[in-house]
Amino acid sequence: MRSRLDSTFVRAELVTSDQPWRDLEFHPAIGSTNDRARELAASPEGPWHIVLTDHQTGGRGRLGRTWQVPDRASIAVSAIVPLAEGAPAGWVPLLAGLALARAIRDVTASAGTALVPRLKWPNDVLIADDDHRKVSGILCELVRLPTGPGVVVGTGVNVHQTREELPVETATSLELCSARVRREDLVVAYLRELARLVDPLTDGFVGDRAAALALGRAAYAEACSTIGLDVRIHLPRGDVTGVAVGVDPFGALVVDTAEGRRTYAAGDVVHVRPHGGGLA
Ligand code: BTN
Repeated sequence: MRSRLDSTFVRAELVTSDQPWRDLEFHPAIGSTNDRARELAASPEGPWHIVLTDHQTGGRGRLGRTWQVPDRASIAVSAIVPLAEGAPAGWVPLLAGLALARAIRDVTASAGTALVPRLKWPNDVLIADDDHRKVSGILCELVRLPTGPGVVVGTGVNVHQTREELPVETATSLELCSARVRREDLVVAYLRELARLVDPLTDGFVGDRAAALALGRAAYAEACSTIGLDVRIHLPRGDVTGVAVGVDPFGALVVDTAEGRRTYAAGDVVHVRPHGGGLA
């Protein structure tokens, strides 16, 4: 029998004076945490609100796909991040992936099995230890908050699932990689790191915004295994091949193709795959 999430612990660790997070709503079961966060976004309590559940029954994925998880086996959380007017919102999904990769690295190391997560652009976290299978999914949605623009960052992490409980062969869970972690520790580490990484995109930021954004971009590029690879980009209108050479200031993938240098926004791309070997 899997244990219930200790939401009191998670709230106490995140809703503190050194964190921007303002409140945490826990549901033993809910359709989609992103849908609930989108409802909350319009209210005065919206900014920096977290929605967490033990059992997401109608999870949504990118491009209209579904995200299915058994009760108490995974993390399903949505966080409402308020942005400064004009901030490059396209970087939020990428920074969320980086925050999650770092949290997985640190929490699995503390639990005695240090996994090596890598990022596939824009934000899939792949685990090198299990043939680069995907352990998480992040769905970011732009919203309008009473304070200005914002993003609902919805994150699912496969923690305890068995192979049979995963929907596809290319997915894995932390437990399948021999990492036994508490879901509470992982969600706390992730949301603390997310708050730190998105800080330069928010109104509350104090310091050199451009320099801080450049640092975040450089850290992402270092963690992203797509950059430097031959890739095939699946677009609704057809495929493009080339070499992924970087990410632009808006979070789009920059690819050198036979027709010249092109950029692809995450929302337009169905899939990025390695072309001619390698791991994307
Ligand atoms: C993907 O397609 O890879 C993204 C999956 C995102 C799933 C998460 S689980 C928490 C949040 N609520 C949702 O309905 N979806 C996201």
